[in-house]
Amino acid sequence: MNLEQARQRVHSLRQIINQHNYRYYVLDDPTISDAEYDKLLRELLDLETEFPQLMEPNSPTQRVGVKPVSALKEVAHIVPMLSLANAFDEAEMQAFYKRIRDKLSVDSIVFAGETKFDGLAVNLLYHDGMLVSAATRGDGYVGEDVTHNVRTISQVPLCLLGDAVPTSIEVRGEVVITHAGFEALNNKQREKGDKIFANPRNAAAGSLRQLDSRITAERPLSFFAYGIGDYKGRVELTSHTDILKQLKRWGLPVSTESIKLAGLDACLKYYDDIGKRRSELAYDIDGIVFKVDDVQQQQALGFVSRAPRWAIAYKFPPLEEITQVLDIDVQVGRTGAITPVARLSPVNVAGVTITNATLHNIDEIQRKDVRIGDWVYVRRAGDVIPEVVSVIKDRRGKVTEFVMPETCPVCGADVIRQDGEAVYRCMGGISCSAQNIQAIIHFASRKAMNIDGLGEKLVVQLTESGLINTVADLYLLDSTQLSGLDRMGTKSADNLLQALAKSKSTTFERFIYALGIRDVGEATARSLARRYDSIESIQKASIEELETIPDIGPIVAGNIHNFFQQKHNLEIIQQLLSKGMRWVPANTKESSVFNGMSFVLTGTLEKLTRDEAKQKLIDLGAKVTGTVSKKTNYVVFGDSPGSKYDKALELGIETLDESTFMHMLEKAEEQAS
Ligand code: IVH
Repeated sequence: MNLEQARQRVHSLRQIINQHNYRYYVLDDPTISDAEYDKLLRELLDLETEFPQLMEPNSPTQRVGVKPVSALKEVAHIVPMLSLANAFDEAEMQAFYKRIRDKLSVDSIVFAGETKFDGLAVNLLYHDGMLVSAATRGDGYVGEDVTHNVRTISQVPLCLLGDAVPTSIEVRGEVVITHAGFEALNNKQREKGDKIFANPRNAAAGSLRQLDSRITAERPLSFFAYGIGDYKGRVELTSHTDILKQLKRWGLPVSTESIKLAGLDACLKYYDDIGKRRSELAYDIDGIVFKVDDVQQQQALGFVSRAPRWAIAYKFPPLEEITQVLDIDVQVGRTGAITPVARLSPVNVAGVTITNATLHNIDEIQRKDVRIGDWVYVRRAGDVIPEVVSVIKDRRGKVTEFVMPETCPVCGADVIRQDGEAVYRCMGGISCSAQNIQAIIHFASRKAMNIDGLGEKLVVQLTESGLINTVADLYLLDSTQLSGLDRMGTKSADNLLQALAKSKSTTFERFIYALGIRDVGEATARSLARRYDSIESIQKASIEELETIPDIGPIVAGNIHNFFQQKHNLEIIQQLLSKGMRWVPANTKESSVFNGMSFVLTGTLEKLTRDEAKQKLIDLGAKVTGTVSKKTNYVVFGDSPGSKYDKALELGIETLDESTFMHMLEKAEEQAS
């Protein structure tokens, strides 16, 4: 290939790669496999190595720097990055609404509603479509230059796509880490013996301020755009909704939850709807932002004390509160890990009374210096177990230090800390009833086999009465045995048997997760299910092979390998399979009527969460995307559907209400089973 041919190929490869990035990260609708994508990137990399004169700083191969920067420089924003006024209750929202309605002398106002991301604000500056700098918010006028780190975030385009790219634009948005990313990151940190992050926001902040972008590149940062600062361009942007649409066309990811809302009631309803789904969202949010949609109205309203009058953040109740540690004792987990637990003076955190919070392990107790009697911040995030975040040292009075017990409080076996591990473990193994009970509770839990009605109390009852010893025994239970238990009527017994029967048809990733292999959370279970199609193939995999899977390091690989070497574990798996446990394997997906179809979900569904609906569709071989296009087969709409519904009507795509959808889903599930 001569230089001219290489130039042309390099140019088109960059365009193709950028387009695929866009489909993957912005539209959530990739059209090629990861392997095909890697091949294109490799081809570009090879050409750039062979013809270094063709290298360009914004080539998709140039996301990670080769050496650290010496310090973070200061950068002035062209248009200051303002803050937002807050509302904490409905009365404050009403006051806000009245204020702007009076000021504009109109009856009703159209807002754009969107999630308030709990991450870090950044300002991306593009000149003629090229990313030239990225900075933190700083004091609103001058921020820190984090260009080298932001370039590593795959969702941030290095070159804007599409037509009429502006001469200059400041894109405002938030850098966040998703819950799944956070889990994977902390697993990796644990593997390496590195610092465990307290929450996604801290992890994102720490990652963004690294001097070495090679470290940042290893962190699962995401980005969402929510506005603009300076703008010099040809496209006229007359509303906030327009701005978001246009940003998306230029290749920037925007939240799929953004919506147009007419009047205050619609805003309040949206706040409630998202509030209910808060823990199901992929990332942390701390409120809803309402912005007057019309740019002219925004200008008429102007600003007060560094915040726009046309926008407000309606905050959700905080997930952190203050309370006192009454005692610290320990719990024995399913892998024998002894977890210190703080017994707390009861405190209400976002609507739930909390009396216990995990302290994770002895190192965490020492790092946070938590003592019995201390006043502490406790945090509850989504379904996660509440945890002690930090101690309020100024309030410390008489306190006592915690001492790790030398024997297991449940079975009396030795408690030992193995080399290189942060946790102490009970050496009792499956003969420790606490470990066994926890393993069964985990197996039945919502994200595992999802056995409705089988909670901690019942598991304890079943094991103590000798009806079950292992998870496989659950599937041998009959209604006479069950209805003989205390506080168990025939109806509850039947319900449980039904839930057990239902749980037999599952997905491979849930099954792997349910096995309770040490350090294999949902994300790792998913990676395993993607790589392997059967238990036998995981069982045969060597530690080295397992290590090639994303986010699996030597320790987790060792745990997985070890798990499948235990005869006892294999016997239980065999028993489960012989009881009819099965998952949707790749080949039965072919037979599903939904196979290969593309779905978009909008609005709130009553019977299922959106995540559940999505999972069911994926299990049936369908694709669920975030955008309605000509290729979409169905748009499923729930209560208060968003603009996707309008788009479906516009494009003539079939829409399904919830009951029609549920009906189709049930039929498809029946057929696939
Ligand atoms: S708009 C002029 N929209 O909230 C309006 N901010 O208190 C300026 N934030 O530092 C901000 N999600 O980090 C806006 N959807 C959203 C947001 C959002 C999170 C953060 C942002 C900013 C802070 C303002």
